[in-house]
Amino acid sequence: MKKMLNIALPKGRLGEKVYDLFEKAGYECPSIKENSRKLVFENSEKGVRYFWVKPSDVSVYVERGAADLGVAGKDILLEYAPDVYELLDLKIGKCSMAVAAKREFVDDRNKPLTVATKFANIAKRYYAKQGREIDVVPLNGSIELAPILGLSDVIVDIVETGSTLKENDLVVVEKFLPISARLIANKSSFKFKTEEVEEVQKKLQALTQETE
Ligand code: PRP
Repeated sequence: MKKMLNIALPKGRLGEKVYDLFEKAGYECPSIKENSRKLVFENSEKGVRYFWVKPSDVSVYVERGAADLGVAGKDILLEYAPDVYELLDLKIGKCSMAVAAKREFVDDRNKPLTVATKFANIAKRYYAKQGREIDVVPLNGSIELAPILGLSDVIVDIVETGSTLKENDLVVVEKFLPISARLIANKSSFKFKTEEVEEVQKKLQALTQETE
């Protein structure tokens, strides 16, 4: 008897690509495309139950076992270091973690640098490696505003196409970390639902290799 897998998908632009990948892998659940307000979708025949969660919350659901599997960005995994298994690089949702600033910004290394970001740990680690002291300004969104309004010298944020930076007259100082979506698993689910989890992993792996 196959065990049901609970799968946390990141709501939003990455989520649709992720669901399409699961569908291609043979874990379809067509009702997911019909209703935009519902959060839980199940295909008992295929043994999957999907739910949409905020991208930054996927690892919380998986770490605590509310989900057996999930898909989270490498950025979230590095920032929060959840106690989960990272099973596979899905090679989608590719972007970079970058430092950006106003075009005219010049770093004065005698002063601590103010850095606005959602990724305080990643930013601290990046600057610690350079022996640079920073003052983190923690924000939850619209990070690009910070240098414009003088709230920070630079930002550490995700850059995908670069258009958000461009439209706000900011430039990339350095892209320092490639990011992509990862399949993650709860540690005890991996032990108790090994067969089901490994089957998903294998099927998704075959698809990600195809697109290489
Ligand atoms: C990210 C990031 C930038 C934007 C970059 O935000 O914070 O604002 O994408 O993408 P671009 O280089 O293609 O313009 P996202 O929409 O992921 O989420 P957020 O609104 O929560 O920051």
